[in-house]
Amino acid sequence: MSGPLILAIESSCDETGIALVEGGRRIHSNVVASQVALHAPTGGIVPEVAARAHLRWILPVLDEALADAGVTVADVDAVAVTHGPGLAGSLLVGINTAKTIAWVHGKPLVGVNHLEGHVYAAWLLDPGQDERPEPVFPLVALVVSGGHTFLVEMRDHLEYRLLGQTVDDAAGEAFDKVGRLLGLGYPGGPEIQRSAAAATSHDAEFPRAWLRGSFDFSFSGLKTAARRIVDTARAEEGIAGTPEVALPESRVAELAWGFQDSVTDVLVSKTIRAARAANARSIVIGGGVAANAALRDRLTREAAGLGVALAIPRPGLCTDNGAMIGAAAARRFEAGERAGLDLDARPSLPLAAR
Ligand code: KG4
Ligand code: ZN
Repeated sequence: MSGPLILAIESSCDETGIALVEGGRRIHSNVVASQVALHAPTGGIVPEVAARAHLRWILPVLDEALADAGVTVADVDAVAVTHGPGLAGSLLVGINTAKTIAWVHGKPLVGVNHLEGHVYAAWLLDPGQDERPEPVFPLVALVVSGGHTFLVEMRDHLEYRLLGQTVDDAAGEAFDKVGRLLGLGYPGGPEIQRSAAAATSHDAEFPRAWLRGSFDFSFSGLKTAARRIVDTARAEEGIAGTPEVALPESRVAELAWGFQDSVTDVLVSKTIRAARAANARSIVIGGGVAANAALRDRLTREAAGLGVALAIPRPGLCTDNGAMIGAAAARRFEAGERAGLDLDARPSLPLAAR
């Protein structure tokens, strides 16, 4: 493989990620310091705590990423960094680190949108992994993370047309909130997946907000329904009014399965419909929720049924990491894009317009 060797930095949310990626595909190293344990006691991210943790870990993560790849900064062709969207304080840690490295070593600086990073994760190859064909255009990409849920059409690299997006909560946010309702740990996504896998009865029915005729999504009604369904289950178990008593594990599993099935059903149905409408030759999916096994299985089956190639990164590349930023950065670098030292955090940076 050839192409630029990019040092890529991601710090938009609660993972400090730094990677070395060659040619927008081949990972040479990809180090992620996760703050999950740090935020578990609060059941969510406290922005100041996140920013401070990035500051604490970003240089050790940088050292490890360079050491794993067996290179020095002198070997890289560019330094890339997520400049939005995300938490301002967290973004600034990555941006200032990237600017400093670029300035000290005289390397070009490239700003990357975090959301396109989630899309471009589908291009990545692990060290030593066999080559496989790249996703082909036109394609439809579904990004489902803790902060975002949307479908875009891409007719070429870096060209995004928004097909639909959530009108309220992101899919990951729904997983996290319903996980809390079910008394599961933080973050809710992986916990719901684990609990749902143990369900022996698959009868729990959760509503689906289809928003017919559009590719938009809505998950806030599902969250409200989940609260009602959990209350009913507690009443049936005779534990209403005793919040200190947990629902039996088998009941939690049934409800986790029902919730996951609802989210998966809507995400997969809309993605397949969008792929058909766009005459897509491939479907790409990314973001933390794309790590979900039920979603991956169902989309794999339905994309095969449609005869469209599907590119899903392995779970560790669906959640936030530096390699996905390196994958997107290569395209921007090769298109001649360079950021100045005035590159600033853009907490609400959009990816695409309709
Ligand atoms: O992309 P990401 O790491 O960070 C953001 O950019 O938001 O996504 C984090 C989200 C969380 O809401 C988490 O619960 C969800 O992804 N998630 C999952 C799974 N793993 C992570 N949701 C469902 N199933 C999973 N296995
Ligand atoms: Zn993300």
